[in-house]
Amino acid sequence: MTDRILILDFGSQVTQLIARRVRESGVYCEILPFNVDPKRIEAFGAKGIILSGGPASVLEIDTPRAPDIVFDSGLPVLGICYGQQTMCAQLGGRVERSEQREFGRAEVDVAEACGLFAGTGENSWMPGNRELVWMSHGDRVIELPPGFRVVGRSGGAPFAIIADDQRRYYGTMFHPEVVHSTHGAELLRGFTHGVAGCTGEWTMAAFRAQAVAAIRQQVGSAKVICGLSGGVDSSVAAVLIHEAIGDQLICVFVDHGLLRKGEADEVVALFRDHYNIPLIHKDAKDLFLNALAGVSDPEVKRKTIGGLFIDVFDAEANRIKGVEFLAQGTLYPDVIESVSFIGGPSVTIKSHHNVGGLPERMKLKLVEPLRELFKDEVRDLGRELGLPESLVGRHPFPGPGLAIRIPGDITPEKLEILRNVDAVYLDEIRKSGLYDEIWQAFAVLLPVRTVGVMGDARTYEHACALRAVTSTDGMTADYYPFPHDFLGRVATRIINEVRGINRVTYDITSKPPGTIEWE
Ligand code: XMP
Repeated sequence: MTDRILILDFGSQVTQLIARRVRESGVYCEILPFNVDPKRIEAFGAKGIILSGGPASVLEIDTPRAPDIVFDSGLPVLGICYGQQTMCAQLGGRVERSEQREFGRAEVDVAEACGLFAGTGENSWMPGNRELVWMSHGDRVIELPPGFRVVGRSGGAPFAIIADDQRRYYGTMFHPEVVHSTHGAELLRGFTHGVAGCTGEWTMAAFRAQAVAAIRQQVGSAKVICGLSGGVDSSVAAVLIHEAIGDQLICVFVDHGLLRKGEADEVVALFRDHYNIPLIHKDAKDLFLNALAGVSDPEVKRKTIGGLFIDVFDAEANRIKGVEFLAQGTLYPDVIESVSFIGGPSVTIKSHHNVGGLPERMKLKLVEPLRELFKDEVRDLGRELGLPESLVGRHPFPGPGLAIRIPGDITPEKLEILRNVDAVYLDEIRKSGLYDEIWQAFAVLLPVRTVGVMGDARTYEHACALRAVTSTDGMTADYYPFPHDFLGRVATRIINEVRGINRVTYDITSKPPGTIEWE
């Protein structure tokens, strides 16, 4: 088994970043909640354990604690922020509320050498160095547990880095996982490679080989169906599964008529013609558009599309005999068991359309070969599998497609206008070399008409909005600051080339308070 690191999550906003950094250094890791059954910790087979930060204070009663097995296992442990505090409190030290709360950038003076610094590389974390880090804490350690010593100090946190080389326990008051901690990745590497002795052999090539073997073992000689959307996740899953089981995989592509210009043809050409993957291309445009006629409410649109999608997919799949599995491109962020201190169900902002209802209805078992990967790792795997860059680097596209980019009712004419606007907009973005800097860019057809003048004549046409955002996960986003000349150029092209549009606006709303899609 490849070396693995276990991250116990105490609810920090940035726990996933720890996992990203560890994986970037070639070490496989997973996140489990701090209160998971200790048997799972034992069964995981880690070479080291990282305790994440978290919002709690160890000074309150009943605060989250690391399970005893962490300290009984003899494994090396790195505690980060809250993780450091609970480690100290649990091992006999003392923690108090700090007068000086430190948030944001801080400097740490490296005081002494220790095992954690040994594997960090040439120029970082040497005694005498001043390192830039990112702090976020209100409590601080005031008395170390037996066996520990201070190896790094900062103004507000004299115990910024602590070490017990004997037991291989280390703690930091700051977050090495965030980019603002300049040599933070090196420090994590010092723990995973230096202290825990991981070799860093976890690569996408290794993952591909393991995943292919695992799919073969899970599926045997049964058939698998996969819903293709043309997006990165389902495409990578399909190509990986095809590599494992060949024609036992059948892909179903439901064309709901809400796709972008040329998209359906591209999907069919790539999968059926290029990869030779058996593909059912179901043209269900009329069905969807008839059901959506006159529907303006965003939630009704989403639910109508989601329900019909399942109906059509189910009907197609039922025609194939011997299907036992449904493949899904589920990613790791969707399966991480989250730690919630707030509790209670959160409100539904939007009903996301995915094929979640399918497995129960169809009585199929799931194949989810990407469920251990982050999005950027899926892209790397796609490259490893030889998928074209145009697909691997593609912006996300929502299941309900253009329907949620046309506020108000949807008609074939409006769809046509929007497709043309979108195509010009994306063409300009690509030509300007900005596509890869942007998380997602698209056009929205507004339900208003405005007066304009073209060639001495009055026009009365639709207005459209352009949107482009930067984001790391789609959960929060900011608008992309296009240069003015770009916006001017694209507006001119849209109005000249797209019939039905006489006004272009640019959406500068961030998320929150906005959402990325308009509906
Ligand atoms: P919002 O609009 O909620 O979108 O800020 C966040 C991200 O999710 C995408 N999105 C969807 N993806 N099915 C999907 O597969 C959906 O129903 C759906 N709705 C939104 C959106 O494009 C953005 O990337």
